[in-house]
Amino acid sequence: MKPKILFIDDEINSLKAISAILEKSGFEVITAKTAEEGIGKLHNITPNCILLDYRLPGMNGIEMLKWLKEKNYHIPIVILTAFGTIEKAVEAMKLEAFHYLVKPVDPDLLIDVIKEAATKHTIPLDYSSYEKKFPEIIGRSKAIREVFYIIEMVAKSNANVLITGESGTGKELIARAIYKHSLRKNKPFVVVDCTTIPENLLESELFGYEKGAFTGATEKKKGLIELANGGPLFLDEIGELPLNLQKKFLRFLQEKEIQRLGSLNKIKVDVRIISATNQDLERAVKEGAFREDLYWRLNVVRIHLPPLRERKEDIPLLVQHFLNKYAKENNKPIPNLEPEVMDALMSYDWPGNIRELAHVIERAVVLSPSGIISIKHLPRRIKEKSGWEERRRFYEITI
Ligand SMILES: Nc1ncnc2c1ncn2[C@@H]1O[C@H](COP(=O)(O)OP(=O)(O)OP(=O)(O)O)[C@@H](O)[C@H]1O
Ligand SMILES: [Mg+2]
Repeated sequence: MKPKILFIDDEINSLKAISAILEKSGFEVITAKTAEEGIGKLHNITPNCILLDYRLPGMNGIEMLKWLKEKNYHIPIVILTAFGTIEKAVEAMKLEAFHYLVKPVDPDLLIDVIKEAATKHTIPLDYSSYEKKFPEIIGRSKAIREVFYIIEMVAKSNANVLITGESGTGKELIARAIYKHSLRKNKPFVVVDCTTIPENLLESELFGYEKGAFTGATEKKKGLIELANGGPLFLDEIGELPLNLQKKFLRFLQEKEIQRLGSLNKIKVDVRIISATNQDLERAVKEGAFREDLYWRLNVVRIHLPPLRERKEDIPLLVQHFLNKYAKENNKPIPNLEPEVMDALMSYDWPGNIRELAHVIERAVVLSPSGIISIKHLPRRIKEKSGWEERRRFYEITI
């Protein structure tokens, strides 16, 4: 039996052309011109995959995706979007669309994607390509795979990206990965950490100044925004940007021009903003501590990194990664772990996330003399959490 594809698109030409390509590759294609019509057809057929145009009269593609999800239809969905609506694609991925394709579609890519989608239940997805592409990012949890996917999609675009997550979850690592895979990779990666630059210097650091602009401005100086021209500007801890600078920064994003302090000259600057925060920016917006208009400018694409305790399946891979790294750095053979060490690492909550895990492994590598890491090489908070101390006390008493 041929795999069935339900293809929904309101443009007749696109409907005909893409259907022809799919039919030639051995698919049975059922077409509909609106989401509503497509939904009607679902009463009679169960397609292996739905190819769905984003822009439709009436219910749009994302709305249909939401509807299918609510109604528990487990059919892989591939979204078609027009060029330049990458945010829609990201939104679709967040709603667990299988893939997205940009019009005009490359026929070979179309066939590959549809084939993979239509056989989704039988073929395991291959993540080895992600491992090759992003060797510095360790993890195979669903959360991390989604992050890989979004990075791939957005890296080559110019969309601003906001990365959120608790401290130590890898926000800067992800920001650098986007940069490395972007068209701006040959420009410098300029970092502004809004917490480490004192508030009274932040404005002049960002925008630069002319000689004599203020007491102490003995030479003119380019600001970090200007230095980032052509590349990305990584704004770390964006939630700490003071309100008066938020306004000025927004103006820069709108006009793509800056004025150094003490100058009336406008300088054109082209930067892509990648920002990160461990704060709840939505709440800051509600409380009036963060400008809503700026928030929307920065939050074109959102990447959220869940805390490590919500993706514990990544712990073993991360532990191995850090064992290799710190053994090498300390000129030691890669140590082995006694089994209860991994138990303890898995049952701990990791409030400091991956950074804390890295430190714990580094310490254990340094402390273990014999190439074997045992529970005694872990910090007390982790031993206690795992209940190991209690078990040991019990053991000592009963022996
Ligand atoms: N998935 C990962 N694979 C490998 N290393 C990781 C991963 N995530 C984070 N790390 C490492 O953990 C450390 C902390 O990551 P990073 O500095 O990117 O976190 P952050 O979210 O920016 O933290 P903070 O909010 O404290 O600034 C870094 O050394 C980073 O390389
Ligand atoms: Mg950081």
